[in-house]
Amino acid sequence: MKEIHPDAQTILITETELQDIVSDLGKQITADYAGKNLLLVGILKGSVVFMSDLMRSIDLDCNMDFMRVSSYGAGTSSSGKINIELDLRRSVKGYDVLIIEDILDSGNTLSLLKELLESRGPESVKICTLLDKPERHITDIKPDYTGRVIPNYFVIGYGLDYDEKYRNLPYVAILKPEIYEK
Ligand code: IMP
Ligand code: MG
Repeated sequence: MKEIHPDAQTILITETELQDIVSDLGKQITADYAGKNLLLVGILKGSVVFMSDLMRSIDLDCNMDFMRVSSYGAGTSSSGKINIELDLRRSVKGYDVLIIEDILDSGNTLSLLKELLESRGPESVKICTLLDKPERHITDIKPDYTGRVIPNYFVIGYGLDYDEKYRNLPYVAILKPEIYEK
């Protein structure tokens, strides 16, 4: 076995567990979206690793695209603002949109993004997140598909970064506090 990254405290979700989580999500999505017009919308950059595994476990014809967004302003979806850094190239009309996110933290970004995509008139908009930290939510957002609920740790790997590092780790790990405290 490869050694754990020196900046990681412990592995929270192993590669094998990630494969099981993704395969279960893929089965649920395959069942729920049969006969629909599925459009997966990955949120850059954190969702890239999850998205590429998840889409291969969905046994349906589907489309995929990416958005890059940031949120700022106050905590609620009515007063917060979303900044679209990279938008979809085509209309979502006629599609059942499934937003693919790495982690749901405050919920700010996703609640604003969901509202925005709904305003563009697709058939439906739902949310699939690999990880969820419910203790941190400040909006009443509820993901439709969740890979794993986790406590309030700062985690890295499998797409998730700290300062743009660690996205390529094949597992999800807790970052050593001394890395972000220094
Ligand atoms: P929020 O839900 O709008 O607060 O923001 C969620 C975003 O914050 C995620 O898409 C991540 O980019 C980032 N984030 C939140 N928690 C973590 C973490 O534990 N590790 C890495 N990135 C995180
Ligand atoms: Mg992100």
